[in-house]
Amino acid sequence: MRSVKSYQASSNSNLASMPQPLTARRSAPISGRVKVPGDKSISHRALILAGLAIGRTRIEGLLEADDVMVTARAMQALGAAVSRSGAAFEVLGQGVGGLARADGVLDFGNSGTASRLMLGVLAGYPMRVVLTGDASLCRRPMSRVLKPLAEMGLMVEGNKDTLPLTVEGTQDLLPIVYELPVPSAQVKSAILLAGLHAPGRTTVIEPLPTRDHTERMLRFFGAEVDVKTREDGTRAVTVGGNAELTGAHVVVPGDPSSAAFLVAAALVCPGSDLVIENVLLNPTRTGFFETLRDMGADIEILRQHEEAGEPIGDLHIRSSDLKGVRVPPERAPSMIDEYPMLAALAAFAHGETRMEGLAELKVKESDRLAATAAGLAACGVEAHIEGDDLIVSGTGTVQGGGLVETQMDHRIAMAFLTLGLGAEEPVTVDDIGMIATSFPAFLPLMSGLGAQLG
Ligand code: S3P
Repeated sequence: MRSVKSYQASSNSNLASMPQPLTARRSAPISGRVKVPGDKSISHRALILAGLAIGRTRIEGLLEADDVMVTARAMQALGAAVSRSGAAFEVLGQGVGGLARADGVLDFGNSGTASRLMLGVLAGYPMRVVLTGDASLCRRPMSRVLKPLAEMGLMVEGNKDTLPLTVEGTQDLLPIVYELPVPSAQVKSAILLAGLHAPGRTTVIEPLPTRDHTERMLRFFGAEVDVKTREDGTRAVTVGGNAELTGAHVVVPGDPSSAAFLVAAALVCPGSDLVIENVLLNPTRTGFFETLRDMGADIEILRQHEEAGEPIGDLHIRSSDLKGVRVPPERAPSMIDEYPMLAALAAFAHGETRMEGLAELKVKESDRLAATAAGLAACGVEAHIEGDDLIVSGTGTVQGGGLVETQMDHRIAMAFLTLGLGAEEPVTVDDIGMIATSFPAFLPLMSGLGAQLG
């Protein structure tokens, strides 16, 4: 068995600080049968809940990407032993309330999910911890989690909204009822994780459903979770406090947000016929596939079944002629990470695509609304922003030929490389370094299917 630390030491994906540009060229059909690596959101949660459980948890299919390894290292720093066992990972949990004092600074790299969820965990421990991250993460708003966690009892030094931050939790957390001002699964999850350490019941009310992996996995580990959809359509998620979680066997399904790039590549390269196996099909994550179907994409779902409390299936995609559509704001949470890819696909469609209610895109790893619009302009696509909406005028073909600035954002890099596979002229992205944060296998997987990247 190797510990995560030694595993990381042999991976140099984070070491390259020089920008690494890459060019995508018009490609032959993208065909074959593949699997995408494990879901990032579920991987973070599996490590965290495993560390808070009593006993040993085995995690198969964990995403081995920089963002997830950050969570593994944070849990290790807090006393939960994380190790590799063949193709799987094992975590020796310490129980809710049983984590140890963290030494030094917890560095969350590029990961908003790791930092925000771990703030929820740290709220339950009376220790002073410094949290930091990379330049992108240190620009992202933290008050969305700090505000409810402070109501529960977390102390935050200074009046700061961004990392680096010094916080101190407490063993006397208060359970709260909190209505989310923004639809964010990270905020919901941070509060629920803190709620595990509080006495009584902690409730989060969400105006629009966001990804519900925390709720599902909490149940899977034995926590008491109650979800009520109210008459006005809002959801109230309640977790029982002073919880006892028990180690479990988690199988992480393929990440639909990674599959999105492969699906898009197959759609824009004529003659493609691709099957992606074992993709997570949780309805809080499938807005992208739903929208593509509205646009006329030929996507079939095969072998649908359930594993470890999550619906999964295979996706069968054939290249298709797409038409522009309106994407309603209430669909945004179920495809929040897929907008750069959808906007690029909309450029290949005939007619206008109007994506509404994208305010949350402005606070992702980059301002994704601006970065997407700028990337499209660099590739000769007519696109503009109206308030929180993005409007793309599709003509069926994309000129390409541009240099796209990725702004330290993995999804901007992958979306525009994918666009380049179907464009008339090659498309270059200025830096592919950040792709390792979520999808280190992107290049070999895509190239193996026939994508011209290099
Ligand atoms: C995530 C939630 C989303 C998403 C992120 C992963 C999660 O963020 O963009 O990539 O795992 O909870 P928000 O909760 O901020 O919308």
